[in-house]
Formats: sequence, structure tokens, C-alpha cells
Amino acid sequence: MCGIIGYIGKKTTKDILLDSLELLEYRGYDSAGIALFAEPSQGPVVRKVAGRVSALRSVCEDLPSDSCAGIGHTRWATHGGVSDANAHPHQQGRVTLVHNGIIENYKELIKEYNLKDKLVSETDTEVAAAVLDTLYEGDPEAALRKLVSVLKGTFAFAVLFSDKPGNIYAIRNVSPIVVAMTEHGALLASDVAALGVHAKEYAFLPEYQVACLSAKGILVHDEKKREVPLQLMEIDWDTSRGGKDGYPFYMEKEIHEQPDAIRNTIEPHIVNGKTSFAEEQIPDSLFRENQNIVVIACGTAMHAGLIGQQLFHTLANIHTDVAMASEFTYTNPVIKPGTLVIAVSQSGETIDTLEAIKYAKKRGAKVLSIVNVKGSTIADNSDYCIYTHAGPEIAVASTKAFTSQASVFYLLAIHAARLNGLLSLEEVAGYLADLQKIPEVIGKILDRKDFIKSMTRNLLSSDQCFMIGRGLDYSLLLEGSLKLKEISYIHSEAYASGELKHGTIALITDGIPVVALVTQSLLASKEYSNIREVQSRGGNVLLITKQSLYKDMNIAEEDTFILPELEDMFMPFPAAVVMQLIAYYTSAAKGYDVDKPRNLAKVVTVE
Ligand code: G6P
Repeated sequence: MCGIIGYIGKKTTKDILLDSLELLEYRGYDSAGIALFAEPSQGPVVRKVAGRVSALRSVCEDLPSDSCAGIGHTRWATHGGVSDANAHPHQQGRVTLVHNGIIENYKELIKEYNLKDKLVSETDTEVAAAVLDTLYEGDPEAALRKLVSVLKGTFAFAVLFSDKPGNIYAIRNVSPIVVAMTEHGALLASDVAALGVHAKEYAFLPEYQVACLSAKGILVHDEKKREVPLQLMEIDWDTSRGGKDGYPFYMEKEIHEQPDAIRNTIEPHIVNGKTSFAEEQIPDSLFRENQNIVVIACGTAMHAGLIGQQLFHTLANIHTDVAMASEFTYTNPVIKPGTLVIAVSQSGETIDTLEAIKYAKKRGAKVLSIVNVKGSTIADNSDYCIYTHAGPEIAVASTKAFTSQASVFYLLAIHAARLNGLLSLEEVAGYLADLQKIPEVIGKILDRKDFIKSMTRNLLSSDQCFMIGRGLDYSLLLEGSLKLKEISYIHSEAYASGELKHGTIALITDGIPVVALVTQSLLASKEYSNIREVQSRGGNVLLITKQSLYKDMNIAEEDTFILPELEDMFMPFPAAVVMQLIAYYTSAAKGYDVDKPRNLAKVVTVE
């Protein structure tokens, strides 16, 4: 969480910082700030506000355009509420810094360094700034090393020292920092999203190494002051290019990008009608010898894992558990020899998932990750990594990342089934051909988005909603329900239809909207019985099904969406897009900022 940017060079620092912060806002957007050397002999000037980057711009107008070095931050509050004082950068003496992460021992440090009277904010970050100022004796690298030796917690710092106007310094442990050199200067950022507009290559700053940026270049030193060479990677996505492409929100744009995202993700793995993971060097033994899979992930990524679980069960006969990464480490999970952990993450930075990976690896599990951001920490910490090729996802509510992650699970389950002799080559080719049709099928849903928009009218007048289904439908509705609640603020609960009668049906009263998803042939008649139970209690049902499973339940035509006819197994794809559009149009109609829902951030780097 929190976006960090730093720039030193010939271009207008203020503009680069503010434009980059706008690109990083999805990491947090409750307050923003910048610091730059307006006058080298006078130390950095800080401007910061509670609110969006747009608000910050207006208080930066008078800053000169010829300053050279500066840092910026967009915040997702952890310690201390949302206020101007708590916004970063924090300035203490000769130190001005921005921070991503959490300093766990900040209270002890306040006592130890006697800082109480110096602090003007409630943040852990300002404590780090004050400690650094105390430790600073003219050598920034030495001071930063001493600082991190007394800190407990996670951090990525970008720092300006008042007497070093020609440099920006950075150090990190768990939270990432990326650096890039351009023709006009050097940049650092919390993630590559901010770099694409300026640079073609970037590198991750290794943990506990100090980066020193100057207009001439980037030097990274280890603890013995030896130079550490940067491992440069190509930037193959540029979040600034194209912007919203004419759509009012990134979420709508990203929903429309799903056909390409899925195509780009699956095609490299389909070779001559067979699955192939040769490029990732995934050995066949991974699925032959491991007969127990644990999927670990958070939020939407975990819901992709729930789809994967059923595919591994149905196609490959491999026992699969799905664990919330945030709970995994604390529930004494059983990791036996032969356990394969599959970690799923769009950002590749979610700390809960990362910690769960580390825990599993310590106990001997092999980790295969499904990640969207190249070179990210989770990718780096996994034994094997399959990249989804969804491209940059900016809206906080994940859409194209989800369907791309799901598409990888289809490939993996088919692959595992083939390797274990459960699918013939002919069956494999048939399933893969079906999978290759998904982009086109999603296109058909998108063509009918206006109808889906009109289906949201019942939701707009309600503050709660239920979603019911069984099997794959239930898993998919967990995601549909998360989408609706996170961006429209309607309290939504997805329920396995069969469980309703064990409690939740007590909440179904006159006019309560209930989304029912019926796409699984073997479960359809039971699902329709459950729909009937809901209708008998006054529930207002929106039915999503396919023609072959349609049953007249006295539900109005305008409340019924008929999905394209596909094998049951592939129905989560079109259903996902319908649920995404329902959430999207509900949020947009309520006038919310769809891309930046309250209290959320896209990249969650705190536990
Ligand atoms: C946040 C985002 C969700 C995402 C989850 C996991 O909560 O808002 O959209 O699903 O984190 O993120 P990851 O990057 O690991 O997929």
C-alpha cells in the first residue's frame, strides 16, 4: 500500500512527481504529498494534503519548475488517521522521507530516542525520520544502515537529506522499490506502474541495499559498501499510455480488456493441442508427484483459487484446499511431503500471500505462483511462476486479473489430468479448444452490457443483496458478491443455496434482491428448488442461467440473463463478466468513484 516516487534530473521535478503519483494512486489515495529542493541551500520544501493528488496539485502551483531532486507519496492510512499532518513526506531535522510499510516498534523508539516532543504527527513513519536524523552524521548510507538495524517491521524508504540536494536515497526490506535510469534523470518508485512513461528498463532494489540516485546515475551498495549491479528488466507495460481509452472508469476499460487478457495468458501454453509449461520450466513431476495442492491467495485472487480447486478435483482427482493467505500461517496448516502450494496474486506484492509462501517453503512445500506483475516479490520468492498477461490493472476492483488467473487454473488442471493419465490427448485438445473460445464468448456478453445495466435497477434501491448458487456457481458468486460490496457499498452475501435453510433464509424478506446463478446441469434442479424457497419469502430474484438450464420461475424477462451455451465447466467466465458489470453499473449509477472505492487499496502490503 502507499505509492512512492522519487526523481532527480533535468525535467520539472514537480510535474514528474505529481503525474507519477496520479498513476500510483491505486496503491492508496487518502492523502498525498511531495518534497523537493526548491532552493538547494535551504533544504527540501514539503507540500502535503489529506485528499487526492488533484488536491495536492493545487497547493504545489507556486513551487519552482527548476528544482532537481524530489520525492512523493500517496497514502493508505495505517498508523494515524487521514490528516495533513499524517500525510507523507515527514520532515525531521535534516531528514525528509516517505515510507511504505509499518514500523512495529515505533513506540519503543520514541522512548529510546526521546522523540516525544519532536513529533507532530501520529505516524510510525515520522518516528523513523526522527531516528534517522538522530543517527545522521553526514554519511547517508551509514545512517540508513543504522536506522534499519533498529527498526522492526516492513519498510521501503525514499529519503532526502538537507545537505545532499543532489541525491535521493532509498532502502527497503519487504516492501518493494524499483529504480530506473532515463535520458533526463533517475527515478525510483514503489512499483513499475510509475516508470513506464519515462523508462524502458527498471530494476528491483534488493532488500537492505542502499540506492543513491543522482542526475548522473543510480548506485546501489551492499553493507560493505560494495557496488551491487542492477538486474535490469524490460518495462513491457505502460499505465500512462491510453489512459481510460474513452471509458469513464478504468474498471469498465479493464472489463473490456478481458478477451485479450485471457488470450494472451493461455495461448503461450497451448502447443499443438497440448498444454505446455516448458517456458516456466515446470517439471511434470510437480503434478505427478504432488497429490495435494494448497492454493493461497487473498480477495479476488483467492476466488480464482476456488474455481481452480473444483477443476483439480473434477479433472485431475487431486485433493485441493484453498486458504486465505491472511489466515494460513496462523492455522497450523498441514504441509506434508507432496504438497504443492499455488500462490495467486495480481500485484505479486500482497504481504499476507508472501508470508504464507515463506511459511510453506520453510516446511518443504514447492511453490508455484500465478502472478500478473513481472519480477514482483511473490514471483521472486516462488520456485516456479506462471505470469498472467492481463497488463496493468488500475481499478481497485479486480476484473481482468481474475479471469486471467482462472484461465491459468484451467490450463493447470487439464495439464495435471493429462500427466496423471486422466484425460486422453483428444479430450485435452477438446477442452483447450473450448478454453480458446472464451475470449469470443466474453465479447458476446460485452455486446449486451446495456441489458445488464438495466438489471441493476433492483439493486439500486436496496442496501443489501444475496447471491445464491451451488458448486462452481457458488464459487463464482463469492467473487460477484465481493465486487458488488467493494464498489457499491451494498451489503452483499454469497451463499451456497443449499445452506440457506440453515440460517440465512431468515434474512430474506419482501423485495430483497437475490441473484441466482444456475449454470451447472447436475445441480440445476436443486438450485431451482432453492430459488423457489427464496421467492416464497418475498425475495426478488435476478436469474442468470443458460438456455439449456432455463426454467420458467415466473421471473420477469428483464430480470433474466441468458448466458451463452458452453460446457458447464467453462460457465464461470461469462458469469464473471456479468457479475462484474452488475457491480460496475450499480456503483456508477450511485455516483461513486468506481475505480477508487473507500478505504481500499489495490496493493496490500500490510498484514
Ligand atoms: C486487494 C485488492 C483486491 C485483490 C487483493 C489481493 O484487496 O483490492 O482486488 O484481489 O488485494 O491482491 P493480489 O494483488 O494479491 O491479487
